[in-house]
Parts: sequence; C-alpha cells; structure tokens
Amino acid sequence: MARNKIALVGAGNIGGTLAHLIGLKELGDVVLFDVFGGVAAGKALDIAQSSPVDGFDSALSGSSDYAAIAGSDVVIVTAGFPRLPGMSRDDLLAKNAEVIGAVAEGIRTHAPDAFVIVITNPLDVMVAVMQERSGLPPHKVVGMAGVLDSARFRLFLAQEFNVSVEDVTAFVLGGHGDTMVPLTRYSTVAGIPVPDLIRMGWSTQERIDAIVHRTANGGGEIVKLLEKGSAFYAPAASAIAMAESFLKDKKRVLPCAVKLEGQYGQDGLYVGVPVVIGAGGAEKVVEVEFLPEEKAAFEKSCDAVKKLLADFRALGV
Ligand code: APR
Repeated sequence: MARNKIALVGAGNIGGTLAHLIGLKELGDVVLFDVFGGVAAGKALDIAQSSPVDGFDSALSGSSDYAAIAGSDVVIVTAGFPRLPGMSRDDLLAKNAEVIGAVAEGIRTHAPDAFVIVITNPLDVMVAVMQERSGLPPHKVVGMAGVLDSARFRLFLAQEFNVSVEDVTAFVLGGHGDTMVPLTRYSTVAGIPVPDLIRMGWSTQERIDAIVHRTANGGGEIVKLLEKGSAFYAPAASAIAMAESFLKDKKRVLPCAVKLEGQYGQDGLYVGVPVVIGAGGAEKVVEVEFLPEEKAAFEKSCDAVKKLLADFRALGV
C-alpha cells in the first residue's frame, strides 16, 4: 500500500515540528511548503537525515511551488505570522487572512480532495476563510484549537490532582482565545467529574477557577516566555492527533473548530465543539445539553468569533 502524503503549508516552528512528528510516527511522506523554499527544503533534509538514527521511513521534501502538494491526503496549514509579546491572536487578522487566501487557492488547485487542518491564528476566522476560499466541503476543513486548549487544561488538572495526564479528560468548547469555555462537569479524572473531585476535597472551586483562567490564557503565557514567537510543540502534537484520527479512521472524539450547521443553535459559524474525526473527515458533532450559565458562556464566545469575522469582512481582504 502506498504511504499517505501529508503536506505542511508553512515550514516555521510548528511546520518543522509537525514534519518531525510525522516521521517519528511513520504517518506518511511529507512535503513542506513555504514562501521561503530554502527553509522548507532545509528542514525536510535535516529531518530526513535523522531517519536512519530513529529508524523511520518517510520521504521528506521541501518546496515553494504549490504543485508539490498535489495528491495530498492531509494538508496542515501554519502559514502566517505568530504572535509577539503584547499581541492578541486577533491582532494577526489582516496579515494572516491574506496568507490564508493564497494558501486556499493553492489547495483548491492542487489538493482539493485533502483533509485540511488549519492552525494559523486567529483560528476560528482563518479556518472559515480557508473553507470559503478553497471551496472544499466543510467536513474536510477543520481548525486545531480545542485539542491544544484541552491538553493545557488536562496538564494543569493532572498537576493539581497529582495524577497521570493519561487519566485526565477535558471538555472544551468555543472560540480559541480568552472566551473559550471549559466544561468542568464533563472534565474528569478516570471518569470522576471535576465538581465531584472538589466535593471529595481534592481541590477547591477557587483553585479550579484559577486553572480555567490559566488555560484560557495558556498561549499568552508561552508568548511572554519565548519573547520571539508562540507555542509550537503542543500545537503540533495536537494537529497530529487530528491527522492520525483521519488517516487511521480512528473516530476519536476531539474538540475541533468545525462549521456548525444548526448544532448548538449556530448556523454556518466555525467554532470549537467535540467532533468525531474519521476517514470521512469531521463526521459528527457531539451536541451536549448546556446548563444556563454554560449556554451563556458559549454564546459569548460565539459572539466574539462573529465580531472578529465581521472585522475581517470589513477589511475587504
Ligand atoms: N505561504 C506559505 N508560507 C508562508 C506564507 C505564505 N503566504 N507567509 C508566511 N509563511 C511562512 C513563513 O515563512 C514561516 O516559515 O509561515 C511560517 C510560519 O512559521 P513561524 O513564523 O515559525 O510561526 P509558527 O510558530 O509556526 O506559527 C504559525 O500558527 O499557532 C499559529 O499563531 C500561530 O499564526 C501562527 C501560525
């Protein structure tokens, strides 16, 4: 059987980490694309030279010609500009919208059958622009944010409870940003919901509230520390989980930005919800019932995404 082909559009910090992970996991062959073709080719060659040491067989190449992504099964998009200290994700809107428009054109022409995962920020708007401009069906265009947000939440909860990260599950909804909505009653340690753990004396509501706040600002915490860019190891690992579920038809339930068509009362809006990812792409949205305060928080988050989308339309990019 032929190997899968995975195109990475953007060969920066996340793109390079993605390529390395794909090799280590033998998920397929990799084409790195970047406006700076030398960077793409250099990273591909460097990672390929690690393959004899680590014992993986993936062909890696780099290019600045969109024709190189032809026939890709998966395209992961990180092209654009990352945040610098003092910037919000929304500050990237105009610059990255232009980039995503060009990338969408390249995908439409050369890889219209691919499953596309967008990582570029501001995520919820960039993934909507990608779907609109590429013309790919909505179930084949998703955004990576929720897996990362819930990974951050899981880590902080595991540290709080002093248990393995493996046994912590987290449920996160909404836009990627300060308004994201972690549902603590669906977040568990080995199936025990966080509110029960509070009642059992494992933590307090105040400490959990602080963890929720730290999670929502998790990206900013890293931007401040790095000073020269934004997070890349955890974002790359998160997108790989989504790509792997698609390529292996695992049907994992992962929080992703998908286009809602009536679910959660939203029509045509890209926003983060739990989704079954399998060979069909985004196969099914998991729709839970909200408590009134959860509904209000989710709607506030959707309104923030809608406002940013309106700002984007006003730019006329
Ligand atoms: N086409 C292809 N690649 C492009 C384009 C374009 N039009 N414009 C910029 N790039 C490339 C840059 O040359 C760079 O190599 O995108 C890459 C981005 O890499 P980094 O600057 O290292 O950014 P990274 O940390 O990988 O983050 C990328 O993901 O999480 C988001 O907020 C983050 O929007 C940012 C994106």
